[in-house]
Amino acid sequence: MTYDLAIIGGGPGGYVGAIRGAQLGMKVVCIEMRSSLGGTCLNVGCIPSKALLQSSHKYEDATKHFESHGIVVDGVKADIGKMLDRKNKVVSDLTKGIDFLFKKNGVERIEGKAQLQGDGKIIVNGETIEAKNILLATGSVPMEIPNISVDEDTIVTSTGALDFTSVPEHLVIVGGGVIGLELGSVWARLGSKVTVVEFSDTIAPSLDADVIKQFSRSLKKQGFKFQTKTKVTAVEKTSTGAIVKTEPRDGGDEKIIECDKVLLCIGRKAYTDGLGLDKAGVTINERGVIEVDATFKTSANGVYAIGDVIQGPMLAHKAEEEAVACIEGLNGLPVHIDHNLIPAVVYTHPEVASIGQTEAQLVELGVQFTSAQFPFIANSRGRAVGETEGFVKILAEKETDKLLGVHIIGAEAGTIIHEAVVVMNYTGTAEDLLRCCHAHPTLNEAVKEACLAIHGRAIHA
Ligand code: FAD
Ligand code: NAI
Repeated sequence: MTYDLAIIGGGPGGYVGAIRGAQLGMKVVCIEMRSSLGGTCLNVGCIPSKALLQSSHKYEDATKHFESHGIVVDGVKADIGKMLDRKNKVVSDLTKGIDFLFKKNGVERIEGKAQLQGDGKIIVNGETIEAKNILLATGSVPMEIPNISVDEDTIVTSTGALDFTSVPEHLVIVGGGVIGLELGSVWARLGSKVTVVEFSDTIAPSLDADVIKQFSRSLKKQGFKFQTKTKVTAVEKTSTGAIVKTEPRDGGDEKIIECDKVLLCIGRKAYTDGLGLDKAGVTINERGVIEVDATFKTSANGVYAIGDVIQGPMLAHKAEEEAVACIEGLNGLPVHIDHNLIPAVVYTHPEVASIGQTEAQLVELGVQFTSAQFPFIANSRGRAVGETEGFVKILAEKETDKLLGVHIIGAEAGTIIHEAVVVMNYTGTAEDLLRCCHAHPTLNEAVKEACLAIHGRAIHA
């Protein structure tokens, strides 16, 4: 059987690419080794984590925040089993939804591990299939720490931390990045003591420095303990849990932390195990990432790659955009993605959302810019709903007023950011954004006010 397009990997990159290919009239097959479609994102990533973040947020509201609204509830309990069941149902409904979309669009699906053979051939389940074009969308897996073995029970990756059947008394998290702070939030809200050990100077080091300061403060208030500039030298299992051995990064005495669960989340790496890249002549760089050109073509003719397995932020929406651009390019349409304009969101509370450059990046690039912030405490909707933590920070080019970076920490930051996403995609300015009438009272008014503040004319601060 010869296909126009064979896609290896059924995650957000692979399945979206498959549907777009079929929409454009291609005969498409998607090969996925998991029993369900959706990849990391739907099965063990974005979706299950957001389901648990929502359940734990509601629990925290009921136990800590309802009272301030004059609502008295007694005897609130968290039923972890039910929370996990709900999370699992959300995942299975959504993954089945992709099967439905495949059928609707005429995409063929093969369950099995695919291996490239070169010359447009792929072996899967012992059979050879042929395709004019092959798209590699094999995603990523957690990075390991040498000499620390994961059992997904006591010493876990994010996958195990989405399935704890009871609330750990003390959860130690190695790596204070996105996964550590999101899953740390889930278990802290449900009652765990959470200690984060982070190698860098700060948690979430890639964020804007002002946001990091506020983020750290907010999470500490929620009970997080942070040990930054610290390295983990060993993790040992005990009869009751584990012992984490740490050392100050810049030298000093070893310390021991006793806990019952350890979550390792120090980043993810491209996954190409057993894919047969050598046979097909696909080159990877020194970090194991598949190298592609601007049209997502690899070093092998007719073989393309997108998503977590290539360079750039490991985000589901980045994988989706790349898949669509790559497949459209194969069909003669223009290929363009501005990787500087991919928004990033951390779904903690407060949420953190950003697009464009941070202040530190602009300083490094020598760009002349104006910076302004507007706090949610001065936003009337924030006051009305009791969400006053955080701010909107705008960075605009000094000479042209063009928006270069927008960084938000606050309730619903991940939703609010999208007006900046749209304006920045149209190379808009702070003035363009502030001239748009914003409904009152909304949290989005803080974005408009921050743009007004760029021009020294915020109304409410
Ligand atoms: P993947 O989703 O990893 O899919 C690749 C698929 O390929 C897998 O299903 C794998 O089984 C399959 N595969 C690999 N090799 C083969 C082979 N040889 N043959 C057949 N099949 C193969 N991103 C966000 O944007 N927002 C979030 O909120 C978010 N939350 C996350 C939370 C967690 C806990 C984690 C771990 C990740 C999260 N991410 C989030 C990241 C997001 O999941 C990834 O960026 C996204 O899934 C990448 O998509 P992909 O299609 O490139 O790869
Ligand atoms: P990350 O890159 O966000 O954070 C890893 C953290 O670990 C960094 O702060 C790093 O300094 C630290 N670190 C590295 N080595 C260490 C060591 N030996 N000891 C202590 N700390 C160490 O990676 P994370 O959290 O594992 O997430 C992986 C990917 O998944 C991210 O790239 C992210 O894009 C994606 N993701 C996205 C989410 C979202 O969009 N909301 C949610 C969860 C994951």
